Amino acid sequence: MLSKLSFNHLLSAKDVQKQDILLLLDAAASFHEGMASDVCQFCDLAKGKILASLFFEASTRTRFSFESAMCRLGGAVLTLENGASSSVKKGETLSDMGRIVSGYADIIVMRHPASNSVKEFSEYSQVPVINAGDGPMEHPSQSLVDLYSISYFQKKLDGLSIGFVGDLKFGRTVNSLVQLLAFFPHQQFYFISHPSLKIHPDKVKLLRDLGHRVVELSEFGDVVPELDVLYMTRVQAERFESKALFDQVKDHFVLTEKSLLGCKPTLSIFHPLPRINEISIEVDQHPAARYFDQAKFGVYVRMAVLWHMLGRAI
Ligand code: CP
Repeated sequence: MLSKLSFNHLLSAKDVQKQDILLLLDAAASFHEGMASDVCQFCDLAKGKILASLFFEASTRTRFSFESAMCRLGGAVLTLENGASSSVKKGETLSDMGRIVSGYADIIVMRHPASNSVKEFSEYSQVPVINAGDGPMEHPSQSLVDLYSISYFQKKLDGLSIGFVGDLKFGRTVNSLVQLLAFFPHQQFYFISHPSLKIHPDKVKLLRDLGHRVVELSEFGDVVPELDVLYMTRVQAERFESKALFDQVKDHFVLTEKSLLGCKPTLSIFHPLPRINEISIEVDQHPAARYFDQAKFGVYVRMAVLWHMLGRAI
C-alpha cells in the first residue's frame, strides 16, 4: 500500500508539508488514546516489518522511543547502538552501509554527528530513512513530537507566543521545529540566547517573510508572562571547538521557579532533553512543566511516523 505522506525519506523539516503534519498528529492521537485502554491493540499493524536503528551518536529518547514504537506496532527491530561496533569502524562508507542495511530492513532510523550524513546514506537506501539527528542540522521526528505535545497541551498550533531558549545555533531540534511551526499562522517567536548562540539569520528571515513576528533577546527580561510555550534547550557541548568556549556560555540560562513568576496559567514548558542544568530540578513540580510527558509522547508520534512511512495507513 502506498504511503499518504508527501515524502519517502524523513530527512529534514523541509520534507514535511502541512498535510503531513495533520495526518501524523491525528494518527499519533489515535495511538495515544488507544494505548490508554489496550496497550496491545496495535500489535498487528507492522507485523512482519523490520526497523533498523543505527546510532552513531548517543541517544536515549529517540532510539528507545522508535524501537518501542516499532515493538508496539508488532514489528521487529535491528539495533546498532554504537556506530563504532559496525564496519564503518573498518572504513566502510555510509553509502555502502546504506546499500547493505536497506537489504535487511523495511525502514531505517539513523543518527550521525556529521551534517548531511543521513541524507548521503538515504541516497543509497532502497527503503525509507528517518533522520534522527545529523550533527547541528535537523531532527525532524523530534519536531513532530514537539508539535504533538504543543497541540496536546495548548489545544492549537496557531497564534502562539513561543520562547526558544538556549543553544539556538547548534540545537537541531529548534532548527527543525521552527520550520514546522511556520505552517501555522500568527505566531510570535521569541529567540532568547547568548549572542554567540543565536538562531541562523536565514530562519529569522523565513519566519518574517511568512508574516510571523520575531523578537531576538539575550536575556529573559520580562518576556515570560507573554509566553504560551517555553522551549528550553541544552547548550550542545559536543559541537563546540573548545571547552573554554563552551564554559563561557554553558550557564547563561538556568530556568528556576523564580524565572516563572507571572507566567500564564496555561504556559507549557518543553525541552527535547537531556536536561543538564538549564532547568532547575524545582521546576519539575511546576504545573507548566511538560517535558517528561513530551518524552513519553515520542512513542505515539513515532508509531504514527513508522506506520505512515511503511505505507500501512489505511
Ligand atoms: N530528544 C532527543 O533527541 O533525545 P536523545 O538524544 O536522548 O535521543
